[in-house]
Amino acid sequence: MSESTLILIKPGGVQRNLIGTVLSRFEQRGLRIVALKRLLADRATVEAHYDEHRERAFFQDVCDYLCTGPIVAAVITGDNAVKAVRAMMGATNPIEATPGTIRGDFGLTIDDNLTHSSSDPEAALREIALWFPEGVAER
Ligand code: PPS
Repeated sequence: MSESTLILIKPGGVQRNLIGTVLSRFEQRGLRIVALKRLLADRATVEAHYDEHRERAFFQDVCDYLCTGPIVAAVITGDNAVKAVRAMMGATNPIEATPGTIRGDFGLTIDDNLTHSSSDPEAALREIALWFPEGVAER
């Protein structure tokens, strides 16, 4: 079933010129990039994005990190896109991520794990609306 998911390339990934490398993996898999922007995230949007983790010890650190430099936000669409993209990113902690995944190939530490993707279809809807309040064009 076709569905959409939200991905972020975090400041470390942008800084390391990995935008094209990361996005090309989705295209090569047969998924489509239907919305894309590079931006300096504002703190309120980042806090809303990670709201479910507000009580966790790393909340301030992860929000600080997302605001340290430009990020890329994209909407990726295709069959089982949420699950497919999560699998392609690998385990949240890059040291546990399988080689061949984005984090397994390009990351080493949890505080710079390169990318985010929506955890489930409900989160995807919420996150797409948060990062693309202007809406996403018809496919
Ligand atoms: S997951 O993927 O949602 O099940 O992972 P979870 O462990 O619940 O982590 C949720 C997000 O918090 C980030 N995180 C951290 N950031 C910085 N430092 C530490 N220690 C840390 N632990 C967790 C983790 O990367 C998840 O964010 P995203 O953006 O999805 O990667």
